Amino acid sequence: MSFAFPESSPFRHSDFIFGVATASFQIEGANQEDGRCESIWDRFCATPGKVANGDDGSVACDHYHRWEQDLELIAELGVDAYRLSIAWPRIMPQEGQVNQKGVAFYQRLIAKLNSLGIKPFVTLYHWDLPQYLEDRGGWLNRETAYKFAEFADIMTQALGDEVYSYTTFNEPFCSAFLGYRFGDHAPGLKDDKWGFQAAHHLLLAHGLALPKMRENAPKAQHGIVLNFAPAYPADPSNPADVAAADFDEQQGIHWFIQPLVEGTYPEAIRQQQPLWWPTILPGDLELIQQPIDFLGINYYTRHVIKAGEHGPEHVRLEGVERTDMGWEVCPEAFTSLLTKLNQRYQLPPIYITENGMAGADKLENGQVIDQQRCDYYQSHLDAVAAAMAEGVELKGYFAWSLMDNFEWAFGYDKRFGLVYVDYASQQRVLKQSAKYFQSFLKQRKEG
Ligand code: NOJ
Repeated sequence: MSFAFPESSPFRHSDFIFGVATASFQIEGANQEDGRCESIWDRFCATPGKVANGDDGSVACDHYHRWEQDLELIAELGVDAYRLSIAWPRIMPQEGQVNQKGVAFYQRLIAKLNSLGIKPFVTLYHWDLPQYLEDRGGWLNRETAYKFAEFADIMTQALGDEVYSYTTFNEPFCSAFLGYRFGDHAPGLKDDKWGFQAAHHLLLAHGLALPKMRENAPKAQHGIVLNFAPAYPADPSNPADVAAADFDEQQGIHWFIQPLVEGTYPEAIRQQQPLWWPTILPGDLELIQQPIDFLGINYYTRHVIKAGEHGPEHVRLEGVERTDMGWEVCPEAFTSLLTKLNQRYQLPPIYITENGMAGADKLENGQVIDQQRCDYYQSHLDAVAAAMAEGVELKGYFAWSLMDNFEWAFGYDKRFGLVYVDYASQQRVLKQSAKYFQSFLKQRKEG
């Protein structure tokens, strides 16, 4: 199957970057090897009832051992870039100690990517906090922000300008709110106030780390990745639903982007839920507001919201297309999110650092036919092109994910990959969508 590539496509012959993305805990496995310490996700997986089927990250895609073949596979896809993350527990398995074996793993990986001509996009934190830091309060403890800045310093010294782009945090919303507010992710805590406090410490950590990262890697780009699900009122003619959708966005979107760009948190939170407001020390917001070279945006779906008794409630619309996660497929909301953010904020250039879908993929006769995913990519790339046509400065797009992997609380049941992973044999099989991407990227270069 081939990709429809109109003459007018902004992706044609341009320096727009296409890539695939993964994260350490989701693919590496080898969680007890070469001196790696326990992470909050190892602990969470070992806690009964937290992760589907009792799945864990001990083997995952065995990428720690198969990294070379995996990078060759990435090269075969024809992408320009690969977005990966560093496992903090491999680098600092004990307080104040650097594990050279862990550092060397990522140095080899980055060297090989560069030798293949693939730009490394490195995320420093994609959710795998060392457990010893959680034992002292994790992201509820302000000290963790300083520990992160140390880790960022060590890693950017070790990898320097070999890396094209550094991201401090991937989706601080999830670390803070799913981890400390709703309890769906490690460490599994549930308190509104804690969620907002953890969010503040994550953003503070970003601000503390940035100057060191710039010093150690002056040629690299430095930024952060946020996830956004725009909220639509269930009944647009009902002012209560409109207000509920707005309040959902204040928490999910503006709480994270506004301090980074404008140095303030949304007042709507203080007004409507004063008890959620975290402790913020003088100078914190100035640190958080430092200029970034890019903003990464992860987009998957939208929310439909109605006014409930205790605040905004999610509504499940009937008759809409959904993915295997149950998430609505809505490319229009992607374009509108990008154009609205662009109007509302003075933004740096944007990369779409994640977009993709989970499907109930089956390996049959050596093939995986994932037509829905091919359509999803086509419609969402069109949505990106539409936002570019409306003046949004977009520099790249990463598919989530390179291959099927550990989908957090859903374990290995949910498959997001372009490449199918047969976990029993660790065989990788290009899905139809991977071939589709390959042909898309080839056509782009050939014109
Ligand atoms: C966001 C996260 O960054 C990634 O780890 C996760 O697998 C995907 N979204 C899909 O849920």
